[in-house]
Formats: sequence, C-alpha cells, structure tokens
Amino acid sequence: MSFTLPQLPYAYEALEPSIDARTMEIHYTKHHKAYTDNLNNAIAGTPLEGKSIEDILLHLDTENKAVRNNGGGYYNHNLFWEILTPKKGTAPSEELAKAIDEAFGSFEAFKTAFSKAAATQFGSGWAWLTVQKGGKVAVLSTANQDNPLMPHVGGGTPILGLDVWEHAYYLNYQNRRADYIEAFFAIINWEKVSQLYHQHA
Ligand SMILES: [Fe+2]
Repeated sequence: MSFTLPQLPYAYEALEPSIDARTMEIHYTKHHKAYTDNLNNAIAGTPLEGKSIEDILLHLDTENKAVRNNGGGYYNHNLFWEILTPKKGTAPSEELAKAIDEAFGSFEAFKTAFSKAAATQFGSGWAWLTVQKGGKVAVLSTANQDNPLMPHVGGGTPILGLDVWEHAYYLNYQNRRADYIEAFFAIINWEKVSQLYHQHA
C-alpha cells in the first residue's frame, strides 16, 4: 500500500482572496504530488513500507533525508488542506478556546504569537499550533518540511499549520509574507482544528 494524494476538500478558487486558484492548483498538483511520489519511492522495499505516516514521522531517522523531507511534506500538506475552509465564521470549541487562553492569555495574543512564529521562520518552513496529551497547546515553527511529530522537534501533535514556503504565497503576495499570514486567519477551519484538538488532547 503506498501513500495517495488526498482529495482537496474544496475547489482551487474556493479560498480566494486569501489563496488564489493558481497557487492552490500548483501547490496541490505539483508540490504535494511530488512529496507523495517521492515518499513512496523512498520507502518502497524498505521496512517503512506499509506503516502509517504518523508512525514513520514519530520514529524518523533524521539522517534519512528523503523520508524526512518527503514524509514531512506529505503529512504537512495533508494537514494544511484540512485546516483551511471557505466557510466563514468557524470558531474554536469551548475547550480549545480555554486552552488557548491558558497558554497565551487571549486569542489575540495567540494570533500574535503564531503570526510571529510564521513571519520569523527564516527561509522555508511552517508555523504550528500543537497539543500535548492533557490538552496544553503551544506555538512553534520548523524549517523545511520538519514537523512537531519528528523526535528531534517534539512538542506534541500539530492541529494547525501554516506553510510559509514561498511556493505557498509568492504568486499572489511576492515578498509580503505578513499579508499572507494575516489572510490565512480568515480561512482557518476552526471546526477541524477543534476536532484535532479533542482527538489528540
Ligand atoms: Fe507547501
């Protein structure tokens, strides 16, 4: 059984104006597809074949660059598409809102911390909101396609992620990463993020 590119849960243009259709199409059909294919090639005929992507990342050999980059790329983009939505006005569940308040003081303070993590990640990478068993949430960022499941990163299970690779925003935003980060907050699927929170808390 090899990994398959998941179906996008909306049309390419559905997230406009936050993410334009062309960026969405290239990101999904080229970048995510390439991570998927390269991951399958990297694990074919190895003991990793047949394992879940979570299992592979949780027990990652960081020296295995093909699995680290493409396994991370595969998982990270799966999560990214899931936590976005064209639906307006979704909100964190009561429990998640409480965990955010406990960790950051307020939702606005969380947004500031997350945006800062995304803006200051040098070069390519991701910003994350993670949850630990017990329900504590945290913000962190990682380089390239690393993520919090990987043992050298740690920090819990990601429940929200923002791709800050230039391929995610350059066509529409060029160097204005801060504008892309702000626009991201308008398309977060807080129902899905809350569901992930409850699943992993
Ligand atoms: Fe990406």
